[in-house]
Amino acid sequence: MKRIVYDKYGSVDDLHAVEVNKPIPDKEQILIKVKAVSINPLDWKILMGEVKLVSGKKFPKSVGCDFSGTIESIGQGIQKFKAGDDVFGVINPFKEGVLGEYILVNEKEIARKPANLSFEHAAAIPTAGQSALQMLTKNVNSIKGKEILINGASAGVGMFAIQIAKSQGAIVTAVSSAKGHHLLKKWGSDYVIDYNKEEVTNLRKQFDVIIELSAKLPFRKVKKLMKPESTYITVIPSLWNFVHSFSNNIVSGKKYKILLMKSDTESLNRLASDALKGIDIHISKTYPMSDYKEAYKTIIKEGALGKVVFNILS
Ligand SMILES: NC(=O)c1ccc[n+]([C@@H]2O[C@H](COP(=O)([O-])OP(=O)(O)OC[C@H]3O[C@@H](n4cnc5c(N)ncnc54)[C@H](OP(=O)(O)O)[C@@H]3O)[C@@H](O)[C@H]2O)c1
Repeated sequence: MKRIVYDKYGSVDDLHAVEVNKPIPDKEQILIKVKAVSINPLDWKILMGEVKLVSGKKFPKSVGCDFSGTIESIGQGIQKFKAGDDVFGVINPFKEGVLGEYILVNEKEIARKPANLSFEHAAAIPTAGQSALQMLTKNVNSIKGKEILINGASAGVGMFAIQIAKSQGAIVTAVSSAKGHHLLKKWGSDYVIDYNKEEVTNLRKQFDVIIELSAKLPFRKVKKLMKPESTYITVIPSLWNFVHSFSNNIVSGKKYKILLMKSDTESLNRLASDALKGIDIHISKTYPMSDYKEAYKTIIKEGALGKVVFNILS
C-alpha cells in the first residue's frame, strides 16, 4: 500500500510516497481503508518541525490526522465496530499520520459515518469541527445573545465556529480577507470585516467572546475590545500563552483561554448529525493523493476557504 511520509523535519519537498505492507491490527486496533483525508495547518506545523518537542524524533512520519474510510478488519477486542462499517475520525497527529491507503486506529478515535454524509465531508469535520464546538461549549457559558468576534473565520475552524455560534443565538462578527466574505455571510455572520481594510483593534465595540484563529491578534492587543467578564480563546498552545493566561486569569475578569482540542466519539457524532441537519461544510478543493505536494504547497501559500480534502482512490 501507498503512504506519504517524511524522514526529517523540513518542507513539503521532503514528503514522498512509499510502498509499505498493509498493517495488521492487534487486539485493540481497527484497520481502515482510507477514503478521504482533510488538511489541517497542524499537518505542516509538524512537518516543518514547529512542534518537535511534542512530535519527537521518530521517523519516518506520515502526514495528516483527519480521515474517513471503511473498516477492513478489526482486532479481537473490538466490540463497537465491525468490518464494512463506514467511519470517520482523527488520530493523534504527534504519533502517526493518515495520508495513505490503510491506517490503524483505536475505537476511541472514530465514529460511524452517516450513510448520507459523503466521505469527503466526513473527513472535513474532526479537527476543525471539534475545535469550534469545544471553544463554544466547554470554554464559555451560554452564548445566546452574546457578541462574538471570530478573527480568522474563513477556513476550517471558523466555518464551524460561525455556524455553531449562530445556531446557539450569538451575534457574530467574523474577520478574514475579502476573498472569504461570501462564505462568512453564507455561514450566518452578522458583521464581516476585511483585515486588509480595517484594524480589528480599532473597532468601537466590545465582545463577550473573542475567538482568535489567525495567530496574529494577541490577547494584549484585544483586551480593550473585551467586556469586563468576557473570554478570549487562542488556538496557539505556546509556553508564553500558557504562562500569560495563568497569570492573567488569577487577577482579571477578562479570561484568557487556550484551546487544546481533544477528540471524542460523542462530539464526532454530534457534528455528523449537525452536518446532516444543514451545517455547511464547504470543501473548496479536492486533490487525488498523488497531488500531495501541490495540495500542501497551495494551501500553505494561499490558505483555504473552508476545507481542502484528499480523495484516496485505491
Ligand atoms: N490548539 C488546538 O487544539 C487547535 C485545533 C485546531 C486548529 N488549531 C489552529 O487553529 C488555527 C486555525 O485553523 P484553520 O483550520 O481554521 O485554518 P487556517 O488556515 O489557519 O485559518 C486562518 C484564518 O485566518 C485568517 N487570517 C489570516 N491573516 C489574518 C489576519 N491578519 N487577521 C485576521 N484573520 C487572518 C485567514 O483568512 P484569509 O485566508 O482571508 O487570510 C483564515 O480565515 C490554526 O493555527 C490551527 O493550527 C489549533
